[in-house]
Amino acid sequence: MLDIQTSLAQPIVIRREAYAAPDWLVPEVALDFALAAAATRVRARLSVTRNGAHDRPLRLDGAGQRPLSVSVDGVAVNDWRIEGEELVVPLTGAAHVIETEVEIAPERNTQLMGLYASGGNLCTQCEAEGFRRITFFPDRPDVLSVYSVRMTADKALYPVLLANGDPVESGELADGRHWATWHDPFPKPSYLFALVAGNLAVNRGSFTTMSGRVVELGIWVRESDLAKTDHALHALKLAMEWDERVYGREYDLDVFNIVAVDDFNFGAMENKGLNIFNSRYILADPDTATDYDYDAIAAVVAHEYFHNWSGNRITCRDWFQLSLKEGFTVYRDQGFSADQGSRAVKRIEDVRGLRAAQFPEDAGPLAHPVRPESYQEISNFYTATIYNKGAELIRMMASILGPETFRAATDLYFDRFDGTAATCEDYVACMEEAGDVDLTQFRLWYAQAGTPRVSATLDSVGSRATLTLEQHVPPTPGQSDKAPMVLPLRVKLFGAESGTALTEERLVLFDRARDTIIFEGLAERPVLSINRGFSAPVIVESDRSAADLAFLSAHDDDPFARYEAMQQLMLDTLVASAVHGRADHEGVIAAVANTLDDAGLDPAFVAEAVLLPSESFIGDQMAVVDPDAIFRAREALRRDLGRRLDAQWRRALAQGVAPYAYTPEAKGFRRLRSVALGYIAASGAADAAELAFAQFEAADNMTDRQGALTTLVSGTSDLRIAALDIFYNRYSDNALVLDKWFQVQALASRDDTGAVVAALTRHPDFTLANPNRARALVGAFSANQRAFHAADGSGYRLLADQLIALDRLNPQTAAKLLPPLGRRRRFDAARSGLMRAELERIVATPGLSKDVFEQASKSLE
Ligand code: PHE
Ligand code: ZN
Repeated sequence: MLDIQTSLAQPIVIRREAYAAPDWLVPEVALDFALAAAATRVRARLSVTRNGAHDRPLRLDGAGQRPLSVSVDGVAVNDWRIEGEELVVPLTGAAHVIETEVEIAPERNTQLMGLYASGGNLCTQCEAEGFRRITFFPDRPDVLSVYSVRMTADKALYPVLLANGDPVESGELADGRHWATWHDPFPKPSYLFALVAGNLAVNRGSFTTMSGRVVELGIWVRESDLAKTDHALHALKLAMEWDERVYGREYDLDVFNIVAVDDFNFGAMENKGLNIFNSRYILADPDTATDYDYDAIAAVVAHEYFHNWSGNRITCRDWFQLSLKEGFTVYRDQGFSADQGSRAVKRIEDVRGLRAAQFPEDAGPLAHPVRPESYQEISNFYTATIYNKGAELIRMMASILGPETFRAATDLYFDRFDGTAATCEDYVACMEEAGDVDLTQFRLWYAQAGTPRVSATLDSVGSRATLTLEQHVPPTPGQSDKAPMVLPLRVKLFGAESGTALTEERLVLFDRARDTIIFEGLAERPVLSINRGFSAPVIVESDRSAADLAFLSAHDDDPFARYEAMQQLMLDTLVASAVHGRADHEGVIAAVANTLDDAGLDPAFVAEAVLLPSESFIGDQMAVVDPDAIFRAREALRRDLGRRLDAQWRRALAQGVAPYAYTPEAKGFRRLRSVALGYIAASGAADAAELAFAQFEAADNMTDRQGALTTLVSGTSDLRIAALDIFYNRYSDNALVLDKWFQVQALASRDDTGAVVAALTRHPDFTLANPNRARALVGAFSANQRAFHAADGSGYRLLADQLIALDRLNPQTAAKLLPPLGRRRRFDAARSGLMRAELERIVATPGLSKDVFEQASKSLE
């Protein structure tokens, strides 16, 4: 018998270059579900056609189940066999009808892939390879089929039966059961299949498309959540209108349904005509959801809706092309969100997210190109690189083309590849053709992993300045030598004395290892503003002085560049302090004061600009991360900022106080108030805890309440205990808000956070079975730099224990918790050794999933 360790030691690696077209196509499929939580019968009728001249049998993916029956052209056969997880059926002709029947157990499905039970309802998740857990099928995205679905279920338990496409017929059966049929006229890959059976209430709306078709919209939730669905429904209508206006994309079915479920591995899923969402990205009211939640709901609703074109009408040829749909769709949802409020603030948030998640990924053992070359488990590649760096690639191409040409290029792409399974190369070729540009070298962005580093030096003599640029792409696993990439850098010069622009903004396409750019006719000493708007997802190292950064933070006319200058100034200050113990805070204090006093600025922008870089981002700038030194340096700067600008923070705290409204202005004031509260607490002011507790109690919305609670839990006042209890008791029946209760404690800056989190893993409301809850406690804890990196290794052990336990239930979600342990090489030898020991313990766990094995073994290399 093969033992698990040996079989895991030779993982099956799927390679991009091994792609071959499918042997058999499935133009049509009819599915018949006899639904029940304990045992569901699935009968599938596939019309298959031989693809090309070959004599190979039909191979259908399954997931360990055996068919109850197999028939070919209406006749039961027994010459089939199971090879690994595949059902192999010998066929002689060019076209056949294959029927199979299986029985599956949704209520025992803890992986939340395939058909599973959540909150008493039944639902599906098929991307990437979940359909094979429902029935035997060529479960790959380049096999497109027209689906007809019939569902039968107990009517009392499952009064609502939904599937992809449009409803066709429904009826009653004698034994308390009922049935419904749905038909989706658009050929789709199996990963877009969905059904839902449940006891659900609906918030209905309608949207009239640009050609005048009326689409019936429905947001389906449990009855008691119905009042929390208006925001999502409104966002859906805005997204439908936006995609028509900005990309010319119209919806194509008569109905569009969204179902919210509590147990979900990711954020949401774009199944054709039947999106299924993690309830955290649907449910909102002011009392339970923060501004952040509201924004995220609109963004995810838009994202999944936009997939109808960038994902469903045009899908991916294979999973190596995942960024074709995800990078582009993130770019589209970012554009949508930017149009709902402040463009600058949205860009700042997106860049902050990229730096928090993608840059570390790109610098660690799990780094991979936007178009990967190989994988063991595709679920591990739903990453910040595929999604967020992928979106940056689209953004760079849009910058190179300019807005009108970019639109012509996306029109060409949608037109040419509609109804097909396409590749990243197809997309780039459309950009190239419509833009009349050569993107040969740009394609390296899809192939080379790692964040490019650019050094920029500006030397000026008299009226002439020379900008010297150098680029370097660091080695990543499997890629030791990198070629120079095309970096579109927006550059502008400002006069150091006048504070006004000396040049127009230029888009420099920097595409060599080293280059120089000359500026002539400068009337005064220039200050360099570079990578404005974060035009390229790179790390810029410039030798700009603290004075020049402070100057830009006050005078640059690109709000993103102002933010960036301030961040750089803060980073330089914090790194100097953490590494060399030099703590000169004056430059930052003056720049922050200046920003707070600038009445012309949007409060949302001010809140972003005055926030210090995160502990982990500071660590990313250091040769060896020292979490304790970083914490001390950051707290010292926070305390000084708090004390010296006490009057400004108190003024900000009093600003814009008004009854709750979800508007960009009101959101901006709330954000700034919570930042101000944090600084007042950091100053050590005697009244800080009372101020926070007063805000906690008086709040008429979750943003203010959670903001106050966040401040309280990192303080020493006993009011923290009172606030946590009040919060818990008030929301003990609301899972999404309880997640916040766990999360706030896991993120707290306290000496005892590790012990608190360990105790919370034994709290009666803690469960690993719900991915949101697992992430709220364990995921948040491992993002808490000081607590997770406790010198005794207790944080690493806690994560590994939880991860191993979760892997038995839900490998996908377990694997997503692993990356923090993979950053071990960034830390001192002692911590690195402790992290390594935990990774080794994980890899040695009997019965480990291939999801976790891939992530852990790569992290050990
Ligand atoms: N395709 C989904 C999205 O990004 C993400 C997802 C992947 C959801 C896998 C579930 C499972 O929109
Ligand atoms: Zn997506």
